[in-house]
Amino acid sequence: MTWVIVPAAGSGQRFGALVPKQHVLIDGRSLLEWTIGRLAGVPQITGLLVVLAANDALWPGLQSLAGKPVLTAIGGSERADSVLAGLLALPTWVQDSDFVLVHDAARPCVRSSDIEKLLHAIAGTNGGLLAAPLRDTLKRQVDQSRPTHVEQTVPRAGLWRALTPQAFRRAALTAALKDAKAQGKVPTDEAQAMEAQGMQPLLVEGAEDNIKVTTAHDLAFAQFLLRTAGDKK
Ligand code: CTP
Ligand code: MG
Repeated sequence: MTWVIVPAAGSGQRFGALVPKQHVLIDGRSLLEWTIGRLAGVPQITGLLVVLAANDALWPGLQSLAGKPVLTAIGGSERADSVLAGLLALPTWVQDSDFVLVHDAARPCVRSSDIEKLLHAIAGTNGGLLAAPLRDTLKRQVDQSRPTHVEQTVPRAGLWRALTPQAFRRAALTAALKDAKAQGKVPTDEAQAMEAQGMQPLLVEGAEDNIKVTTAHDLAFAQFLLRTAGDKK
């Protein structure tokens, strides 16, 4: 049984719209609806748990999608709090050792084939994540002032960008996020919480165009990708 938790409880500060970015429309459907549509279409996914902000008035109230149950939970102030709330709200029949996927609502362009690739790759492991190797040359700046200058070039070899979905076993991920919280740490993805437990999550190369819609500029790119996605789901 493989459930997917979709953190959608952010406020979209960097996006800067009147509504949280997960509710911004692309061709008449919200980012969140695009995202959960993609996820529900993956045959291996059993159910979806969408984590919403307490004051969310725009959730369309879906209870199933593509014949799969859609549950909701109320998120917290950090993404990690929202994911933990989702884990705690999963049905009891999701086993401790079952993989749970976590996928950002803000990544509507994820490919089904990459999700299947991830699930295939992690079978028999403790879990892993979609990621993309860095391609640009990296520069470290001198200081925080503007304009700033290059202090040095950072070697790119072996560096990856963490994407989602990330997949870990239910009990292990719950424990890792609880531990992080107890220690006052705020992991920005699930893998970071697992790494703090001494685990080395599997890096599974995913498509670069699984972008996270962060600023308003990203929206046009996401729209382009969604309009042309038919042949590469
Ligand atoms: N998220 C969440 N709960 C939070 C913060 C974020 O569920 N307390 C979700 C967002 O809704 C998003 C995903 O985590 O789907 C990735 O977060 P991010 O892109 O940072 O979204 P926001 O936090 O909404 O944006 P910003 O940081 O610009 O405010
Ligand atoms: Mg954020």
